[in-house]
Amino acid sequence: MGLLPPQAVASESKPAPRRAWWKEAVVYQVYPRSFKDTNGDGIGDLRGILSKLDYLESLGVDVLWLCPIFKSPNADNGYDISDYRDVMTEFGRMEDFDELLAGLEARGIRVLLDLVPNHSSDEHPWFVESRQSKQGPYRDYYFWRPPREGREPNNWRSLFAGPAWELDPATGEYYLHLFAKKQPDLNWDNPRVRREIYDVMRFWLDKGIGGWRIDVVPFLSKRPGLPDCPPGADLGRCYANGPRLHDYLQEMNREVLSRYDAVAVGEGIGLTSEDGPAFVDEGRRELDMIYHFDHLTLDREPSDFSTMRPFSLPEFKAVFSRWDRALGEAGWGSVLLGNHDFPRMVSRFGNDSRFRVESAKLLATLLLTMRGTPYVYQGDELGMTNSVFESVEEFDDISTRTAYAERLARGGDVAEFLRKQNRTSRDHARTPFPWDDSENAGFTTGRPWLKLNPNHREINARAQQADPDSPLAHFRRAVRLRRQHRVLVYGSYEDLAPQHPAVFAYSRRGEGDALLVTLNFASVVTRFELPAGLATAELLLGNYPPPGPEPPERLRLRPYEARVYRLANRRPPGARPTR
Ligand code: GLC
Ligand code: CA
Repeated sequence: MGLLPPQAVASESKPAPRRAWWKEAVVYQVYPRSFKDTNGDGIGDLRGILSKLDYLESLGVDVLWLCPIFKSPNADNGYDISDYRDVMTEFGRMEDFDELLAGLEARGIRVLLDLVPNHSSDEHPWFVESRQSKQGPYRDYYFWRPPREGREPNNWRSLFAGPAWELDPATGEYYLHLFAKKQPDLNWDNPRVRREIYDVMRFWLDKGIGGWRIDVVPFLSKRPGLPDCPPGADLGRCYANGPRLHDYLQEMNREVLSRYDAVAVGEGIGLTSEDGPAFVDEGRRELDMIYHFDHLTLDREPSDFSTMRPFSLPEFKAVFSRWDRALGEAGWGSVLLGNHDFPRMVSRFGNDSRFRVESAKLLATLLLTMRGTPYVYQGDELGMTNSVFESVEEFDDISTRTAYAERLARGGDVAEFLRKQNRTSRDHARTPFPWDDSENAGFTTGRPWLKLNPNHREINARAQQADPDSPLAHFRRAVRLRRQHRVLVYGSYEDLAPQHPAVFAYSRRGEGDALLVTLNFASVVTRFELPAGLATAELLLGNYPPPGPEPPERLRLRPYEARVYRLANRRPPGARPTR
């Protein structure tokens, strides 16, 4: 046992971050529509999730985030809610939800529901009333504006392409929709709207859910007068952070969140790391966690989300360091590499052909050893890849369809559109979960609502359950590692080689422990020398058979190899061993 190096002393002496169950949790995100169908209509349902509790428990996860399960005409698959207090007809009935909640609770898994407070469905009774007349009591629940010089009231564009305004014939005014036409924006400046949403939050919290993931939180407060966006602006930035946003979040915390042992996670659309702390600094009493996706947009043009641009590993790593520094000691972040809005993580950050298995394991290692609460998207534990869409008709996603209609109207290149969407569409993440290698992958006995990924015969849960070398088996080992080493939750994070073009290497220190994670993001062998003074000790987790003998400060990493080590001589004298 050697002496403690100066940096370890410094991080050991910092006050330990406040403990919280949601910091220690691993979150698993379910897209209910695509998880498991039990009645043969081709659409996943709540009883489907209920039938897979053993699987969920076997993953070792603590929280299940369900994408919206509320009554919805499904223009945007549940992100357009017509009744916030009832369950989507296709997903089942309230009794099914109650049973699911109880079943999960019995296994120690909490439920995070998805609150969509920025907009409702146009079929919600509030909007149905609102559009009737300019004077009605619900008019001011939404944003209505008269035409400006015969056109839209401002230059805002929908995040799903096209103008963000729709002219409504009943009163000759436009309503605002930052997303689809069927998702009119609610007016949070109206205190009645805020009260309605707080009531909804309490309704589900009283049932015993563990908290809320809150959709597009930064858009809740609009800039007064709804000024034009600068030409070519990043739309997310333009709509985010209106002047009353933090007042509303403090009010939400006072009125609702502070009264429950619940977690609130804000989707950080349009935020930079400088904006982050204001949402989650504990002293401010707003949200608990911010869920940004800066690293998931690195490969896109800010002005056109379906156009790819190249990016480097140092840029990718810099996002993690930037956010970690920003949230520092007072706030808390989320770690994710994919969700229902992005293509599959393996196809973007790994290698979805020759090194699919290795790179899926590498990415799972990253998720479960980074600082912040990990969010695993369904299927990523299997290393699911992007799918293949042969025609525009095979896509379901409203953002793809709206962009396509716009493209056709402009006379654009349809083949090019299809090519781009085959890399960028949200539907890659939404293909049904492959439970086995049967015709419909064990997802449904009927016709799946969205085409299955054709590779489900090789990539499916059943095959991987039986294989100790599968991505699934590695995922479970990585979850166990996180449990055994509290440093992976509460310890500090340091990128040890920010400029290295192929290796992501970082340390986690604290809790009487010091770990090293090395991830080779290249399809070739890469040599990596540890910074001066550091050396590896015990290998705790890897995605290859253990390496042959090698010097403890010079590693030879195989393609997409991931290793987690205990650092040599870094444990403070007298600390408890962790295993
Ligand atoms: C969020 C959701 C996305 C949805 C959008 C509008 O970004 O994650 O799926 O389309 O908000 O509600
Ligand atoms: Ca069904």
